[in-house]
Amino acid sequence: MDEYRNHASLYDLLVGPFLHSTHRDIVDIVKVHGCSSLLDICCGTGLLVGKAVAAGLKPIGTDLSPAMLDIARSNHPEINFLENDASDLPMEEGSFDAVTVSFALHEKPRNVAFAIIREALRLVRKGGLVIVADYHLPVGHSAFFTGFAVQCVERIAGKQHYAYFKEYMKPGGTEAFLAEAGLDATCRTTHMNGWSGIFVHVKDA
Ligand SMILES: C[S@@+](CC[C@H](N)C(=O)[O-])C[C@H]1O[C@@H](n2cnc3c(N)ncnc32)[C@H](O)[C@@H]1O
Repeated sequence: MDEYRNHASLYDLLVGPFLHSTHRDIVDIVKVHGCSSLLDICCGTGLLVGKAVAAGLKPIGTDLSPAMLDIARSNHPEINFLENDASDLPMEEGSFDAVTVSFALHEKPRNVAFAIIREALRLVRKGGLVIVADYHLPVGHSAFFTGFAVQCVERIAGKQHYAYFKEYMKPGGTEAFLAEAGLDATCRTTHMNGWSGIFVHVKDA
């Protein structure tokens, strides 16, 4: 079943503005590292790959939701989008300079999220980047209201979705998840008043 069937048409309008600066910063990081080819796993409606192509990169998007992919293809007919499960992708090892996953891991069962990260690591070339943007535990309490808003959005997304979000945040969000997955990832920037972050891992050359 397509979990995004009922939300896809509203995604760009309701969620897009909150992810704009994250997607922009990811593209900047990819460009500064001198990458050209980029695979965006769980690409959704193509918000990130749209920015990547505008910046002169060569992106491909892949997602499991036909509804999200329909919008991605209609927004960006010039980009290749593939319908695949991110935990088992058909591309060859080391095919991309950079592989990105934004705001998808927190909504998956932990074993599936680990399988997605393993695929990201497999598909990036040596010396290339795995970039993950997702929820983060902010330092201090100044971002209480943003945290409340994040909780509300994740609750509205559904009972199962919220349960996986809680499971993801309990040990420490993205930082803890990537450490447990064995990545040596650095948090480059935070967004949403500290409630999300962009984490970059360079694959050993
Ligand atoms: C919250 S959206 C994020 C979309 C996009 N990365 C962004 O930043 O706007 C999560 C996306 O992950 C996709 N997704 C969830 N599980 C997946 C899986 N196993 N394989 C591929 N895509 C998946 C959903 O279809 C959805 O498009």
